[in-house]
Amino acid sequence: MKPKISIVVAMAKNRAIGKNGQLLWHISNDLKHFKKVTSGKCVVMGHNTYVSLPGQKALPNRRNVIISDRLDSAPEGFELATSIPKAMELVQNETEIFIMGGGMIYEQFLSKADTLYLTRVEKEFEADTYFPIINFEEWELTELEVIDDDPQVDYSYRFETWERK
Ligand SMILES: NC(=O)c1ccc[n+]([C@@H]2O[C@H](COP(=O)([O-])OP(=O)(O)OC[C@H]3O[C@@H](n4cnc5c(N)ncnc54)[C@H](OP(=O)(O)O)[C@@H]3O)[C@@H](O)[C@H]2O)c1
Repeated sequence: MKPKISIVVAMAKNRAIGKNGQLLWHISNDLKHFKKVTSGKCVVMGHNTYVSLPGQKALPNRRNVIISDRLDSAPEGFELATSIPKAMELVQNETEIFIMGGGMIYEQFLSKADTLYLTRVEKEFEADTYFPIINFEEWELTELEVIDDDPQVDYSYRFETWERK
């Protein structure tokens, strides 16, 4: 059986997700949320997102897969797939995989995804990387948590879970 495909992303009001190879904000709560959603699971990322990880270290307590056509070999702690079909072959025995970005990878996986773990940051950010347009008609909101009192940031954000209808 094919694994369930879940996308996990934090996106601004204007769909911005990154700039200069980095995230646009530091929201500790969101990092915790990301950890809670993905711990013990398999995460799949593009080459640029791998480069953006602190120290380019694999995320602990998770199976880490990079998709890249340019890397010669898998860095320690990671597995390497040179294409999306090859990544899907690698993870075929998983029950669920978490697509963790970035823009190019989200673009190719959105139509295949079953679940979206979407952190919506209620502010516009200047960016060079965006999440693709989501047709929310195709999705049903199943979980929502609104955070409007985080002293770390001056805007609110929401943790949403969407399931494909
Ligand atoms: N806000 C969020 O939740 C979030 C999450 C993750 C990342 N980000 C941000 O997003 C930005 C990075 O996104 P990005 O779009 O630049 O890059 P990316 O999607 O992380 O990686 C793109 C690279 O992945 C490889 N790739 C993509 N599709 C492929 C395919 N079909 N076959 C083989 N290789 C493929 C290519 O690497 P090769 O050139 O090596 O082949 C490509 O250059 C950063 O700013 C990061 O901080 C934000």
